[in-house]
Amino acid sequence: MKILVVGGGAREHALAWKLGREPGVTDVLCAPGNAGTGASAGCSLDVSDPAAILALAEAEAIDLTVVGPELPLALGVRDLFASHGQLLFGPSRAGAQLESSKAFAKNFMHRHGVPTARFRVCDTVGDALEAVSGAAFGFPVVVKADGLAAGKGVTVAPDRATAERAVRDAMVDGRFGSAGHRVVVEECLVGQEVSFFAICDGRTAVALPTAQDHKRVFDGDKGPNTGGMGAFAPSPLVTPDIEARIRQEVVEPVLEGFAAQGDPYLGFLYVGLMLTADGPRVIEFNVRLGDPEAQVVLPMVSDDLAPVFEAAARGALETSRLDGTGDPHVGVVLASGGYPGPYETGVPIDGLDTAAGLEGVLVFHAGTGVRDGSVVTTGGRVLTVVGRGADVAQAIDRAYAAEACITFARKQVRTDIGQKALPGR
Ligand code: AMP
Ligand code: GLY
Repeated sequence: MKILVVGGGAREHALAWKLGREPGVTDVLCAPGNAGTGASAGCSLDVSDPAAILALAEAEAIDLTVVGPELPLALGVRDLFASHGQLLFGPSRAGAQLESSKAFAKNFMHRHGVPTARFRVCDTVGDALEAVSGAAFGFPVVVKADGLAAGKGVTVAPDRATAERAVRDAMVDGRFGSAGHRVVVEECLVGQEVSFFAICDGRTAVALPTAQDHKRVFDGDKGPNTGGMGAFAPSPLVTPDIEARIRQEVVEPVLEGFAAQGDPYLGFLYVGLMLTADGPRVIEFNVRLGDPEAQVVLPMVSDDLAPVFEAAARGALETSRLDGTGDPHVGVVLASGGYPGPYETGVPIDGLDTAAGLEGVLVFHAGTGVRDGSVVTTGGRVLTVVGRGADVAQAIDRAYAAEACITFARKQVRTDIGQKALPGR
């Protein structure tokens, strides 16, 4: 089987790495890829152009395309592939609305009884200002731009002034473009956040290991939100009982809801949850794997995933569970100084081979490229180094030992990734 992985982050490197070592897979092309997915395998590709993705899949005689980021899915890449008889693992444009429109996701959850924060969808500034007045949801209150905003569209506002500013930023000043013309205002949930991933074929779902992300840029969950500064898997918080509730109260109603509309949901379903005192509540849906969660989740799976993705893409999963190693994995993101704000690129990176040679370590590339034969930075999140351990403490030690080997000017890392998973924390 020849597979195309669409995307160029560490999540896609991890997907390409996992699929590339499976016996049924003859070749993996990762596009646009990065310095880690291999110069020969990489090629330029605009992921916001579904027709270009289809043209590449046809030109390369790809048997199965697996999509990393949400954008091509929201732009209907699956629908285009289906109309050309090409196999792609990922939801249709209709399914991708679970991520591309928070209003769609909230209304869908409301209709199908999926537990989530109380909310109001606001189409006018007046409506939104009224919703953040404190009467409906108190404080803190959460203001979310409706559309895709590269992870920056959510404000957890401690008071009315901050909430009103968030409303005006989105709806008046157009900070998120058309993504912010509508906002969702919702109650603030309190609890620990966990990520649950399922591989869906429209009727059934196979769960991947659970994970926890570290979204804030600084240690101790301080500073602005980022795409994710590190992750660990499995999450000790997701007990078998919680997992059963997530399947029953969230995943099954989602699959049934789309099936009833005649548009079965096929693809990854990423459920971001808050474990509240009243039980699990959905914070958000994504229609892809998380990044950096994928980098710790995929190495835990010992089953071959290519046949699972292929069967799911055909709507015919035969597996109901996956075998995992069970060993904890911890992934530390190495970012460019200044991220998630402005940062420099083109900075040379040293020590990659030394890090990758350490026992129990994987090095996944994100914002990297090759210049004059050397690997340089090209983005905000540059690498994810992953440690596998017999226990969490060893996984943390291995990840940070590898992190220490890799140097580049103004490298930025959190030093507390995985601490939350240590027993007794
Ligand atoms: P999202 O972009 O939807 O993932 O939201 C970004 C972050 O905002 C989440 O990871 C949460 O930490 C926080 N957040 C979103 N919605 C809520 C909520 N209703 N209550 C508390 N925190 C939230
Ligand atoms: N790590 C969060 C995300 O991928 O959305």
